[in-house]
Amino acid sequence: MARLDLVVRNARLATESEERRCDIGVADGRVVALGAGLPKCAREIDAGERLVLPGGVDAHCHLDQPMPAPMKMADDFASGTRSAACGGTTTVIPFAAQAKGQSLAAAVADYHRRAEGKACIDYAFHLIVSDPTPRVLAEELPGLIREGYTSFKIYMTYDDLRLSDREMLDVMDLARREGAMVMVHAENSDAIAWLSDKLIAAGRSAPAHHAAARPPAVEREATHRAIALSELIDVPILIVHVSGGEAIEQIRWAQARGLNIHAETCPQYLLLTAAHLGAAGYHGAKCVCSPPPRDEASQAEVWRALASGVFSVFSSDHAPFRYEDPHGKKPGGREVAFPHIPNGIPGLETRLPLLFSEGVLKGRIDLRSFVALTAANPARMYGLYPRKGTIAPGSDADLVLWDERREVTITNDALHHAVDYTPYEGLRITGWPALTLSRGEVVWKDGEFRGTAGHGQFMKCGLPEPARLRRIAARSWE
Ligand code: URP
Ligand code: ZN
Ligand code: ZN
Repeated sequence: MARLDLVVRNARLATESEERRCDIGVADGRVVALGAGLPKCAREIDAGERLVLPGGVDAHCHLDQPMPAPMKMADDFASGTRSAACGGTTTVIPFAAQAKGQSLAAAVADYHRRAEGKACIDYAFHLIVSDPTPRVLAEELPGLIREGYTSFKIYMTYDDLRLSDREMLDVMDLARREGAMVMVHAENSDAIAWLSDKLIAAGRSAPAHHAAARPPAVEREATHRAIALSELIDVPILIVHVSGGEAIEQIRWAQARGLNIHAETCPQYLLLTAAHLGAAGYHGAKCVCSPPPRDEASQAEVWRALASGVFSVFSSDHAPFRYEDPHGKKPGGREVAFPHIPNGIPGLETRLPLLFSEGVLKGRIDLRSFVALTAANPARMYGLYPRKGTIAPGSDADLVLWDERREVTITNDALHHAVDYTPYEGLRITGWPALTLSRGEVVWKDGEFRGTAGHGQFMKCGLPEPARLRRIAARSWE
């Protein structure tokens, strides 16, 4: 056995596939031994029979992503990864976004400059492909995939990002040839624009109308279209941030047909509803994200789909804009009509505690499914497994010791992002990470951030393994 430089003793360890009591031996930032009675070591942490889980992998978050002026994201790689670490996440995968007319390689180089020396936990990049020119398809993307950027998001909405169906086919075709993963934001752009114009003409410009401009049918149609396009090409895709029952129905239908369709959901679709967009004054802007949160019946559908294996990934979709800020939810310092409110809500730090409390402790999902959804599956999906997403000899010592019984009332004051609100203010939950280790280094302990900017390393992603994702067993009551 390698000489240990850390032992985490008396752990109740859980991964996606096993639960056991053991000590965890770490050398050079990696797990090297699991077992009872590991030799004494100069550095020891007593887990005291508490739960130790793999560090979370947040595979959908936006950090310091270039935005059209005057918008600017509140979190950069320093504040974003700090917040993630304090909530038990040890890997983030944000997006290097191509602007139309820009080369993808330039977008990646710029994003590396933004990240350099700032992250306190490890990170990889997805790409956002907004301009799949012949050169991008023939040269840039294949080259970047080989260099470790193996997943890319494409949009069916947002004027500055959306692709036509033909462009989507081009990108999917390339992904099939190279074995890469396409992530799809599925909402029908023209329908949203048409509905938005009608609502604005009728004087309905408040944040609450954001939900009416993007009803479930808009997401359902685009989800079905994305599935049909992927079927034509015969390529796996992942539908991101699925909000409710209608889109889920399409995904279930596709999965039942044997199509290689994967799906992701986020805390906002379990815990927020469209009523949050109608908060007094302009405060609903805080919950403007796309697709929008739906209703309680829809939340129940998302829970059911999480428990029955429709979703393989649970991400935050952290998109950080401050509320009282001319670069944020009040662009230029004004309360604007809903189509001009920057989309997105913060959630890197609360993602794991929310799902642990409301999912595991309330019996809606089991512990192994929690680990699969929040760590193992995203690591597999994006080619980082088993370095990330599990606790096994050879994996990085990214460990989270959970304080399962700790009662927490979420307040923005206690969070570590640079956003001036959380949509979950005042929510009472149970459980929070007591300690987070990133490659064996303490980054969060006893309610204090202990990380160091620059500790986090860039990781190249391998090719995705969608066929090997753990399917969560259907519940008997389904
Ligand atoms: O509203 C959202 N989801 N904002 C972030 C960007 C995206 O589409 O994921
Ligand atoms: Zn999106
Ligand atoms: Zn997003």
